[in-house]
Amino acid sequence: MPVTIHDLRAFKERGERFPMLTAYDSATAEILDEAGIPVLLVGDSLAQVVLGYESTIPVEIDEMLHHTRAVARGARNALVVGDMPFGTYGASVEDGVRNAVRFMKEGRAHAVKFEGPQFDLAERLSSIGVPVMAHLGLTPQSVHLFGGYKVQGRSDEQASNILRWAKELEEAGAFAVVLECVPTELAARITRTLSIPTIGIGAGPHCDGQVLVVNDMAGLTNGKAPKFVKRYADLRGQLSAAARAYADEVSRGEYPGPEHSYS
Ligand code: KIV
Repeated sequence: MPVTIHDLRAFKERGERFPMLTAYDSATAEILDEAGIPVLLVGDSLAQVVLGYESTIPVEIDEMLHHTRAVARGARNALVVGDMPFGTYGASVEDGVRNAVRFMKEGRAHAVKFEGPQFDLAERLSSIGVPVMAHLGLTPQSVHLFGGYKVQGRSDEQASNILRWAKELEEAGAFAVVLECVPTELAARITRTLSIPTIGIGAGPHCDGQVLVVNDMAGLTNGKAPKFVKRYADLRGQLSAAARAYADEVSRGEYPGPEHSYS
């Protein structure tokens, strides 16, 4: 059965923790969907992990829509959430509505996510049938404002802002809120306060759900990962070993063998 935003609320009410992963292509979406991941986020992390940009800021809405459509084609049951990229919703609610509608119509997404305390946008989208996932804490599109990828909400003032924004986004109609890189105790407090699910990334174990970038958790990403990443596989190592083995066999004339050739 296709997962809906109401199922996520029911998970919270039953105290069942749920996973979300990013996905950027149809084949990966199919694998994650078959593995029972209920929510697939076509994150703007696409910019870094797939397209090779330095941050999420340069990715264009047309690139996001292209990958969102691919994920929607691969997912049978998972709820597909399209991540609105930098510059497509911050300047005006009208911009945000127009671009969110593109995610639903052209991207075939079931919901959209955007970063920050955009209460009016959350309210307008909810009123026209676009489910909204909010994103607070370390919002990577504001990396230059924050001066780097730093934990948010350590001071009392920041913590009370994040808590208040989360409540206001819930009141504006958001169906879930991602909390990125905030202290465990703050995430726990927000999770207790809200009726909608919180989904943590670097926000400790008390959120209703957890999200990771699939390339990070599968060990495809190069270099040092943030503290919150757990690697569940070494796909980079495995793909590299497979490529070397293939190259060796081709250079020795062992591949293709008769079993791979036509008479
Ligand atoms: O773009 C992304 O992958 C995200 C998640 C890390 C929450 O926003």
